[in-house]
Amino acid sequence: MFDLLLSDPTDHPLYLQLYRQIRQHIRNGVIAGDTRLPSVRSLQQHLNISKTPIETAYQMLTAEGYVTSKPRSGFFAVNPNVGKLSNRIYHHAGPLDGLQRPSRTHASPKYRFDFQTTAVDKDAFPIRLWKKMINEALDSAQDRMCRYGDPQGEIELRTMLSDYLRNARGVVCSPEQVIIGSGISYSIGLLTKLLAGSGHVAMEEPGFAPVREYFALDGFHVIPIPVRDRGFSLEDLSASEAGVVYVTPSHQFPTGSVMSYAERECLLEWANERRSFIIEDDYDGEFRYFGKPIPSLQSLDEQGRVIYIGTFSKAFTPALRMNYMVLPRELLAKLGTMRHLLLSPSRIEQWAMQAFIGQGHWYRHIRRMRNTYRKKHHRLIELLHVHFQGRIEITGHSAGLHIQVIVKTKMSAEQLLALAEAEGVRVYDLKQMWMSPNDNGDTRIYLGFGGIGEAEMETAVLLLRKAWAGIFAE
Ligand SMILES: Cc1ncc(COP(=O)(O)O)c(C=O)c1O
Repeated sequence: MFDLLLSDPTDHPLYLQLYRQIRQHIRNGVIAGDTRLPSVRSLQQHLNISKTPIETAYQMLTAEGYVTSKPRSGFFAVNPNVGKLSNRIYHHAGPLDGLQRPSRTHASPKYRFDFQTTAVDKDAFPIRLWKKMINEALDSAQDRMCRYGDPQGEIELRTMLSDYLRNARGVVCSPEQVIIGSGISYSIGLLTKLLAGSGHVAMEEPGFAPVREYFALDGFHVIPIPVRDRGFSLEDLSASEAGVVYVTPSHQFPTGSVMSYAERECLLEWANERRSFIIEDDYDGEFRYFGKPIPSLQSLDEQGRVIYIGTFSKAFTPALRMNYMVLPRELLAKLGTMRHLLLSPSRIEQWAMQAFIGQGHWYRHIRRMRNTYRKKHHRLIELLHVHFQGRIEITGHSAGLHIQVIVKTKMSAEQLLALAEAEGVRVYDLKQMWMSPNDNGDTRIYLGFGGIGEAEMETAVLLLRKAWAGIFAE
């Protein structure tokens, strides 16, 4: 299903937003003619809104001839511009000179259960299909097999990714703007060269330490911007001298807060006024459990200030080592003079991924993973509530694959980790994510649920309760 990104209904009523977005998708060809549209019920569940705005939007689209309703089959798109390309998507999309041709931890055996924040579900990996895709990639490789590929990434895969990102995250880009890489470190490594001379880098505090360290090692001055209960502090950012900011708006790492639509707009205003760049790390943006999908920052950016980074590590597997970055055109032109920096991952795996997406497996896989993680997420939260009752507070849990738990105790996170370890359970304090750790605050623990089986979750939580039985003052 194509994704729809709804903003606050006080700005524009929901039916109007839906009507406009679906109409635009049909006009653009993102929704091809004759495509069956999602039923009112499935859209209602997906968007978490009432039926009325969806029915109204479908009626308006039907009245205008963009949609036709077939008895007992549902609603179908009617594309009035078959064969014409979208203005918005392709108007900048001409090939660009110089670019057209194109430590994370391991599970430890001493733990019976490891709530690692980076782990994904091992049983859900489509191993048989992936082997088939690799075989198909090899069989169809022919003489491409003995040549280097495009260091920016295979153009066919970049094209598929730009379609996927547009549908799923509202990211507006052409394949020429997509750079396939081997992970966030590679992308940040490129950015430190492309952004040299842009001034200081603002980072969320707490924030993703590997990125912070990369910038610091490459000579950037890093300015910590506090992430408070209500999220990233725009006042502190405005008062700083930062020329670039790195953020994780879909699911702040590690606290888990989600940047609101209004905050996204203010952040963009900041970047537009200063001609600064925002690095949007959308590392687990595919997984949102409560509320309506919020558009990516890149999708709201009209002045080319957002650098978007996504990864296959969460929705697929971190073992693949493949990610993607979407560069604004201003930086693309600069990259054209630095092509020696580019190094794409294995061509064979890129071809396999291309086949995986092209044959429709990717969209099915994402749907399955959303269901799997939604169930695990709900189960973990339910178990923590049942077994710890009011002694913990769960926050940062509306998206992603990990949650933040504030444990109401006088003990330190370090002590809690040691007690859990004695029962064979590994949980995390993620202290290294703070630039200046503050030991006087709440005791925060992080639990990743991607790698724990739903069936074994209760045993893991019961062991945790046993480990922490004596830490709460009565
Ligand atoms: C904040 C953050 N960004 C990005 C990533 C993904 O990095 P990579 O694409 O190198 O696997 C992760 C993985 O856990 C992450 O936590």
